[in-house]
Amino acid sequence: MSLGKRTKYLKINPRVPEINKIRMAAKILTRGGVVAFPTETVYGLGANALDRRAVSRIFRAKGRPADNPLIVHVASFRDVKELVAYLPPKANLLMRYFWPGPLTLILPRSDIVPDIVTAGLDTVGIRMPSHPIARALIRVSHLPIAAPSANISGRPSPTTGHHVLKDLRGKVDAVVDGGPSVVGVESTVLDLTSPVPTILRPGGITYEELKKILGDVAIDPAILGQENLRPKAPGMKYKHYAPKGEVFLIAGELSKVVVKIRSLVKNLQEKGLRVAVLATEETANFYNSEPRPDYLEVIGSRRSPATIASNLFAALRNCDRKHIDAILAETIPEEGIGLAVMNRLRKSAANRIIKA
Ligand code: TXA
Ligand code: MG
Repeated sequence: MSLGKRTKYLKINPRVPEINKIRMAAKILTRGGVVAFPTETVYGLGANALDRRAVSRIFRAKGRPADNPLIVHVASFRDVKELVAYLPPKANLLMRYFWPGPLTLILPRSDIVPDIVTAGLDTVGIRMPSHPIARALIRVSHLPIAAPSANISGRPSPTTGHHVLKDLRGKVDAVVDGGPSVVGVESTVLDLTSPVPTILRPGGITYEELKKILGDVAIDPAILGQENLRPKAPGMKYKHYAPKGEVFLIAGELSKVVVKIRSLVKNLQEKGLRVAVLATEETANFYNSEPRPDYLEVIGSRRSPATIASNLFAALRNCDRKHIDAILAETIPEEGIGLAVMNRLRKSAANRIIKA
């Protein structure tokens, strides 16, 4: 199967996936093709995890560095067995509590997992997505599916079929469009091969939720904004989630943040730049008078940080559509899903943080 000029577009009902269309997408996968599909977190770009040639097509389509391992997606607990050398006791507990859902477990790998999937590591990341289309696709293809986020490497992750087409049309065999991803940030990556389970990437399952079940959970210090440390998840070291405009985070007490952003809008516009503000429902009105940003995006409500997570990547991509040069983003508390939101924002801003 060639990485053709043609990309098949399949619109599928996310609540009741049409089985004939699922079969079409599954057939492309069993023949070694690459298919983008929705999950509850973000869209994934999938291939047969046990076929190294198919997996190499994922890397090529995304322009992904070879040292960045892929997550393998499964549809049943039984699928996990053949992929791992053994299951640490905590794995069963976590799988029962959080699967299907946005939690990836880093486990000791078995020999059948190709090196290209794990980037040569002796561990493999496995997750069971909850999205009905993702589940149907895995079940009907009878395959473990390796899938990174379905964006060009470095760009914001895609949360709609349209985002995927924008990045990968002509580079992949098919795009399954199942509407917007609800969680909006990727899965939490949890390392179970260290003495204390360690979050390598914050995501859809929160630190607080994991702590309730596990008691003891660590967070890789490299992801808490210390640039000098080397993160344990290879993917966390790359430039990431970057729209074309430069992102700046404005931190501090909220009323001061608003004042600071308004003065930055003025300064930057005077330099001839197009400026966007990423605001929240609680603050949006303060940006509706002069100096008015060229684009105002209300990402969600501070009372419900999940709404912010859900819209975050689309907001960054919208700024590109509006040809924005500078994006000024408010910060939110790093609690619950806020930890993942701030991790993605910090990365998209390459740590450009302005204190208000
Ligand atoms: O929600 C998600 O996780 C989405 C959907 C499609 O499932 N997938 C996703 O994959 O975000 P990707 O490839 O964009 O990010 C995977 C992250 C990377 O930071 C990678 O380095 C890390 O997980 N990772 C994968 N396998 C690993 C391993 N064996 N050890 C350490 N980190 C690993
Ligand atoms: Mg990614």
